Amino acid sequence: MEHVNLLNRISKPSAHTPIGRLLPANLDPIKFGIVDYSQLLDDLGLEMAWKVILDNISNLTIAELKGSFFDFDNLGEIYEIGLAYTNKITKKELGKYYTPDDVSSLMFELLLENTNLINLVDVGCGTGNLIISVIKTAMKSGQTDIIRRIREGRVWLYDVDPVALSICVVKIEILLQEKVGSLIHVVLGDFLDKKIELPSDCTVITNPPYSIIKEIKKNWIRSDVLLQSKDLYAGFIDRILQQERCKEVFQRESTCVDQPHL
Ligand SMILES: C[S@@+](CC[C@H](N)C(=O)[O-])C[C@H]1O[C@@H](n2cnc3c(N)ncnc32)[C@H](O)[C@@H]1O
Repeated sequence: MEHVNLLNRISKPSAHTPIGRLLPANLDPIKFGIVDYSQLLDDLGLEMAWKVILDNISNLTIAELKGSFFDFDNLGEIYEIGLAYTNKITKKELGKYYTPDDVSSLMFELLLENTNLINLVDVGCGTGNLIISVIKTAMKSGQTDIIRRIREGRVWLYDVDPVALSICVVKIEILLQEKVGSLIHVVLGDFLDKKIELPSDCTVITNPPYSIIKEIKKNWIRSDVLLQSKDLYAGFIDRILQQERCKEVFQRESTCVDQPHL
């Protein structure tokens, strides 16, 4: 299982990159606009552009970002615009559609009602709409369990997209105003890969990708569900439910709570 420092993983720009004018001091998140964004993407590419952006916003507060291009609540959307701008196919193939706030809040209510939280996992966390909304609702209602679990190193994020994962971690840090990134387990990789496992005693929240599977990969478990549905959403839920280590699953598609091993 890969536990990675994502920001270090993103490659440095080549000698030709005009990074000089994009150094952190020159990128003012408050004055930044859509033209600057497309220029940054053209100059640096998606990964490096987001490394620069995250370096610049990670020490700011939600209030300081308010109303700017990098408004905390818009970060996921801004990333998806960048993804579409740089590569339209990837966005579609990864089934990336972020989770609406009402769905996330409802998931949190169910989570509170039904679970004795030990390890919390967000599978296909993307830029973190789901887990952020869950943490926000927890903070509003004075439920400190989830925040304590983050500090104890009991939160796990899974996604195949390294940039989305790093955005998710920085958003959690901005929200909590605490450098908890190194305590969060970040698992970068294809969730259907046999080698990728969930931690023990985990409660899973997930908004799996909506996408048709074009090819069943050799490193996937060829379950009946996967073979028959040829659908990533079904494949994800099946893979979660098949793991003995999972206690409960709260999924995007319905308000039902699956408790596979209780
Ligand atoms: C519907 S989005 C969920 C977004 C996230 N829950 C949110 O609210 O922002 C699905 C996520 O699954 C990820 N994904 C797609 N295929 C994957 C795979 N094979 N393994 C792991 N993650 C994958 C995508 O990168 C995307 O972030």
